[in-house]
Amino acid sequence: MKDKVAIVCGSSRGMGKAIAAKFIELGAKVVMVSRNEERLLSAMREITSKAVEKGDRTAVKRALAIPGDVTKKEDIERVVKETIEEFGTVHILVNNTGGPPAGYFEDFDDNDWLSAINLTLMSVVRFIRLVAPYMKKQKYGRIVNITSMSVKQPIDNLILSNTVRLAVVGLSKTLALQWAKYGITINNIAPGPIYTERIKELSWARASKEGISYEEALQRWIREVPAGRFGEPEEVAELAAFLASEKAGYITGTTIQIDGGAIKFVL
Ligand SMILES: NC(=O)c1ccc[n+]([C@@H]2O[C@H](COP(=O)([O-])OP(=O)(O)OC[C@H]3O[C@@H](n4cnc5c(N)ncnc54)[C@H](OP(=O)(O)O)[C@@H]3O)[C@@H](O)[C@H]2O)c1
Repeated sequence: MKDKVAIVCGSSRGMGKAIAAKFIELGAKVVMVSRNEERLLSAMREITSKAVEKGDRTAVKRALAIPGDVTKKEDIERVVKETIEEFGTVHILVNNTGGPPAGYFEDFDDNDWLSAINLTLMSVVRFIRLVAPYMKKQKYGRIVNITSMSVKQPIDNLILSNTVRLAVVGLSKTLALQWAKYGITINNIAPGPIYTERIKELSWARASKEGISYEEALQRWIREVPAGRFGEPEEVAELAAFLASEKAGYITGTTIQIDGGAIKFVL
């Protein structure tokens, strides 16, 4: 991954942050994107100072934080424009953002559905549209979308995620088939429960809805995982790094689960 240019969305915390850190460790030039500027800058400083401590003297120069909201077309355009100005091209795109809100069918109106589509699907459509010309021209690209185990096995109270994330899988598969000839691979990662702020927030929501303690809500997640624990963001980052590497050139159009066995289907 040395000197490859990567845009990692949603990278101020959680899986996105772990992926950005891994890419820096592997020598990439990394553009980190998320809404909260302070948290984004702090994440970037933490990642680069750890890399420098390990003897990576160019880490600071290879990291760029661009605050932006992936639900906004103009922000996506700005992120790609500034990436090109700074690093000249894009080799790797990691699409990642916050998940749509938890809830049941009866809880959501049209605006909620359209917001979920904008957040989860249109952010991916817009980023891919803008980076694809560079990837096609250089005959090299790696696109990795962070989705959810919900694309393989619906999660009871996450109807928006269960529905809209499948559109990302359909989009990825279609483009993977059409763009393999350009050396572009497109794959989805489908995480099971990973110990991040998101899982903590969902556990608080579950606790208050079901009248149980926060600890019990966490344990209920864990009981659904044969591995008997949450995954770590760094474990997801290892998979993302492989899919984004040159070595993964023959893997495209897949949706790979990383879930400690939580998904019960055979295929
Ligand atoms: N953790 C799990 O167990 C799990 C399992 C399956 C799927 N997932 C999905 O995987 C994705 C990442 O999960 P996570 O647990 O790492 O989430 P997280 O800890 O909540 O982190 C989400 C990241 O995305 C950024 N973000 C959120 N909305 C954004 C927006 N509109 N524009 C730009 N950046 C935005 C956040 O920063 P800002 O707030 O600063 O923007 C943050 O850096 C989510 O879609 C989640 O639903 C998570």
